[in-house]
Amino acid sequence: MSKIRVGVIGSGSICRHRHAPEYAVNKDVEIVAFADRVPERAEFCVKKYGGKAYGKWEEVVGLKDVDAVSVCTPNALHAPITIAALEAGKHVLCEKPMATSHDEATAMIQAAQKAGKFLMIGHNQRLAPLHVKAKQILQSGIIGRVITFRTSFSHGGPEGWSIEGASGWFFDKKMAFVGAMGDLGVHKADLLRWLLGEEVVEVSSFVDRLEKTFGDVDDTAVCLLRTQSGAVGTLTASWTHHPGEDNATIVYGEKGILRIGADKNYGVVVNLASGENQYFETGRMQSNEAGGQTETGVIRAFVSAVTSGTPPEISGEEGRRALAIILACLESAETKTHVPVRY
Ligand SMILES: NC(=O)c1ccc[n+]([C@@H]2O[C@H](COP(=O)([O-])OP(=O)(O)OC[C@H]3O[C@@H](n4cnc5c(N)ncnc54)[C@H](O)[C@@H]3O)[C@@H](O)[C@H]2O)c1
Repeated sequence: MSKIRVGVIGSGSICRHRHAPEYAVNKDVEIVAFADRVPERAEFCVKKYGGKAYGKWEEVVGLKDVDAVSVCTPNALHAPITIAALEAGKHVLCEKPMATSHDEATAMIQAAQKAGKFLMIGHNQRLAPLHVKAKQILQSGIIGRVITFRTSFSHGGPEGWSIEGASGWFFDKKMAFVGAMGDLGVHKADLLRWLLGEEVVEVSSFVDRLEKTFGDVDDTAVCLLRTQSGAVGTLTASWTHHPGEDNATIVYGEKGILRIGADKNYGVVVNLASGENQYFETGRMQSNEAGGQTETGVIRAFVSAVTSGTPPEISGEEGRRALAIILACLESAETKTHVPVRY
């Protein structure tokens, strides 16, 4: 089978740390283009990974010899670029959060259906080995019915990660639409739905800017979530965690506690009410900290979907459901009410 020809749009940090290197080692891929509104950023990637550099994303979307694109731009550009690429007959792997509104997300999903092309969203947390192991444990029923949970994704902020630093788009509401809540919270929204195997139906939240002195987006979000089965828990997303990061999820069941990414030696720990403890070495969570980047599995899953013709598991619909939780949390914070999640 011939290789799929890929263009990467947005040549900043997520492109350089994950998309480009993971495409580069995939034997079924030929990287043919990088685009960035700052041409030197695309040229940098071309020097390292091959292909041709473009200054406008529209040029890459219009290329006949591109089968699939990665959308690695600021959040507000996800929907317009994704829809244009799908309409041009490309498969799309779009970064998270997939869009800035329910309507945009729906338009992306409809564009994929109309074009008969795949749309996948870069929700990598559910592919991490420790989360895969944790889901197996939950499905085994060993901790019984889930009663409560808490999940956090918190670090010091994207100013040390983004190629644009503290003056960049991450802190600009027009381009980011949301701060830590959308950047990190959407990862855990996706993870929780997938781990628990049920939907979040109602939320209540505080979404604030408590520390950053620049930009106009939130840096701290603390949310209460209720699921279909009646379990309740918290989701914390912040750019105000110093030092290091918190990427842990803890699930409390009738018969025991499942700790994920919460122990410094073991990826997953189970403490059973019977007194028995189980420890699983599953490797680290991918993180933005130096040396923390490992293969995410996202690019492999996308390429495999395209080459096999099998729809990706982390579809546009899945992305829209994670986004719906974030949108409900934002509405709750604004209206100071409990808000039902509208899927
Ligand atoms: N899955 C993950 O774990 C993860 C981690 C980090 C970032 N992300 C997501 O990836 C996306 C990009 O984030 P990043 O960290 O790479 O940001 P970044 O600031 O490092 O890079 C963004 C790049 O997009 C380029 N860009 C801006 N406008 C453009 C346009 N009109 N056309 C072409 N390029 C344009 C910028 O010049 C910049 O090079 C965001 O949606 C972010 O939420 C996902």
